[in-house]
Amino acid sequence: MEHKFCVVTLFCLLFLSPLVSCQLDYRFYDATCPNLTRIVQSGVWSAIAKDSRIAASLLRLHFHDCFVNGCDASLLLDDTGSLNGEKNAPGNKNSVRGFEVIDTIKSTVEEACPSTVSCTDIITLVSRAAVYFSGGPYWPVPLGRRDSTTASQNAVNEQLPSPFEPLENITAKFTAKGLDIKDLVVLSGAHTIGFAQCFTFKTRLFNFGESGKPDPTLDASLLQNLQSLCPNQADSDTQLAPLDPVTSTKFDNIYFKNLVNNSGLLQSDQVLMGNNRTASMVFGYSKLPFLFYRDFGASMVNMANIGVLTGSNGEIRKNCRVVNKKTTA
Ligand code: HEM
Ligand SMILES: *[C@@H]1O[C@H](CO)[C@@H](O)[C@H](O)[C@H]1NC(C)=O
Ligand SMILES: *[C@@H]1O[C@H](CO)[C@@H](O)[C@H](O)[C@H]1NC(C)=O
Ligand SMILES: *[C@@H]1O[C@H](CO)[C@@H](O)[C@H](O)[C@H]1NC(C)=O
Ligand SMILES: *[C@@H]1O[C@H](CO)[C@@H](O)[C@H](O)[C@H]1NC(C)=O
Repeated sequence: MEHKFCVVTLFCLLFLSPLVSCQLDYRFYDATCPNLTRIVQSGVWSAIAKDSRIAASLLRLHFHDCFVNGCDASLLLDDTGSLNGEKNAPGNKNSVRGFEVIDTIKSTVEEACPSTVSCTDIITLVSRAAVYFSGGPYWPVPLGRRDSTTASQNAVNEQLPSPFEPLENITAKFTAKGLDIKDLVVLSGAHTIGFAQCFTFKTRLFNFGESGKPDPTLDASLLQNLQSLCPNQADSDTQLAPLDPVTSTKFDNIYFKNLVNNSGLLQSDQVLMGNNRTASMVFGYSKLPFLFYRDFGASMVNMANIGVLTGSNGEIRKNCRVVNKKTTA
């Protein structure tokens, strides 16, 4: 036992420590919270039964947690007098959904195994279940992340990619997190489920790049549908359009087929066809769903490793919305 631990630790120190956190472990809660996966999955299942969009929202929540100073559940913290939370940053406010689902699951987990499982590990498991219950892949998830005691509203603006940025900028934001161009293309496939508000793509419909015309890379019949859904006036800004209009609640590879057809919704989706390297990956995933499923799981694990707190760093929050009270020794 001790020998094995040494070997594993040595291996980590020698080969892996710059890349992944070695304290993450597939069996991290096996002894301390054996029912964790079951609790998470039943919570996600009942949330989807009530709201078919919630799977998409929960998947996105994981992305927005991990991309802003690492997967540390900082996104879940409510504003207080001394803390400016991330959920009210532009990009998250009136956009990120699913906080109540995490609360419900966390409280069931706390009943079964108090002060044991971090909120960010719950988000990680929730996002996997959300994909799986939408018909997508299932993949092994290493656990043992810990929760932050801070949040950063500014980091949201700086670190999260925006749908209006060119591909080079989005790529740079992924690279800054240790993710490569393949992770970017594969993870963009998450837009096979869920919805976007009109203001996130409206510039493509009427006056693209101040040209007075629509984005030429947008399919003509999709353009017509979107123009009638999102008329050129401010009161249509929060209307919802499906990111994948063909199967908006099914996790499949149709997102990539849409891109091949000039039917990506966001500018940041369609630009994946504007570069030879990314376009060839899009073609591949549009033809080979199982390749997409396999790579998606691998890239989700990469994303879930970003900037994790382990060991004695951070804490196990009792309530995902607030930092634990300091206990005086
Ligand atoms: C590559 C850069 C990305 C950009 C620029 C981007 C941008 C966006 C935008 C603008 C929306 C609509 C938000 C709204 O209207 O309120 C959205 C929705 C969504 N995004 Fe992304 N996203 C990106 C990558 C990702 C990644 C990596 C994931 C997950 C792995 C993801 C998952 C989702 C999901 C599932 C939705 C639908 C959420 C819902 O219906 O509640 N996105 N994204
Ligand atoms: C796990 O869940 C099962 C079925 O709901 C239950 O019978 C069992 O007592 C639970 N075990 C623990 C350790 O909570
Ligand atoms: C893209 O990144 C460059 C360099 O950081 C920056 O100057 C530019 O404003 C960015 N473009 C957009 C649209 O965000
Ligand atoms: C995309 O192309 C496929 C096959 O060529 C077709 O079945 C599908 O309807 C097209 N989708 C759109 C939105 O044009
Ligand atoms: C990239 O695509 C363009 C056409 O869009 C083509 O002219 C060019 O040769 C391609 N470059 C490579 C490296 O394949």
